[in-house]
Amino acid sequence: MKNVSVIGAGTMGNGIVHVFAQSGFTVNLIDVNAAQLEKALQTITKNLDRQVAKGTISEEQKQNAISNITTYTDIAEGTKQAELVIEAATENTDLKLKIFKQIDDAAPASAILASNTSSISITKIAAVTKRPQQVIGMHFMNPVPVMKLVEIINGYATSKNITDEIVSLSKQLGKVPCVVNDYPGFIANKILMPMINEAIYSLYEGIADVEAIDTIMKLGMAHPMGPLQLADFIGLDVCLSILNVLYNGFGNTKYAPCPLLVNMVTAGKLGVKSGEGFYIYTAGNKDLVVSDRFK
Ligand code: CAA
Repeated sequence: MKNVSVIGAGTMGNGIVHVFAQSGFTVNLIDVNAAQLEKALQTITKNLDRQVAKGTISEEQKQNAISNITTYTDIAEGTKQAELVIEAATENTDLKLKIFKQIDDAAPASAILASNTSSISITKIAAVTKRPQQVIGMHFMNPVPVMKLVEIINGYATSKNITDEIVSLSKQLGKVPCVVNDYPGFIANKILMPMINEAIYSLYEGIADVEAIDTIMKLGMAHPMGPLQLADFIGLDVCLSILNVLYNGFGNTKYAPCPLLVNMVTAGKLGVKSGEGFYIYTAGNKDLVVSDRFK
């Protein structure tokens, strides 16, 4: 496999393009928004610069990676030669189904179609295509260039040789693939989101403050970030939406989102991306500052 298309130039799309381009693939980055494509190239260049500064790659490897990327605003044009298309658009079911119908029409019949969804059913996505056996989940973790895991999700119809191919491709990228079946939240978020929800419940119930909850989980369990900081990093809206997928999918109240999380999302406090969640984020300041609301 040599030619890969990635749809969506947001944080996840950028990261996925970065690792494929660095591994020598020809990568077509597609987004309807030309300004977003420009921003994505700047972010990828900045992240590659960071690797050059650290000495993990050379300037020449950085230039090669950048030259492997071509941008497109048209899905049909950007996928017509792809052997693999990875969709990394916004986590919205209707949008993903629409995109998959378009890719199915445009990409070669032999191409594998993957979604980077964190919780939308692969079986449902596959069902709108004429090749459900070639549709699979490739769930990368943020930041993609740093995180080793790729959670590979078999839809109900995914064929074994497609799974094997994606497993071996993930290893080629230097990642560690883990194969799971298509049920709500897969494995990563079926386990991560209840932990985050429980941390928010602990705050809501007044058992401990933001700093205590995060420090206990960081130092006590050797997590790189506490669950509240991680929720801010992922996006509180994304956490809420995944919890709702778990809650509705399993019909079990143990996944019911904490009312504090619901309120914060309703109030537009989405974490890092909105500048405030459990912490406040200001450009140029790497220190963690707890939001006044929780002091
Ligand atoms: N590109 C390339 N390198 C990057 C990078 C990027 N975008 N972001 C960070 N790095 C590198 C840095 O250069 C640095 O490299 P060295 O170790 O070689 O020095 C390393 O990553 C650590 O970065 P920083 O020193 O800037 O910051 P840090 O030590 O605080 O680590 C972190 C930042 C890697 C994000 C770390 O805090 C972490 O691992 N956090 C948890 C992340 C996590 O859990 N992600 C999964 C979220 S869930 C998800 O994605 C899926 C979902 O469905 C919700």
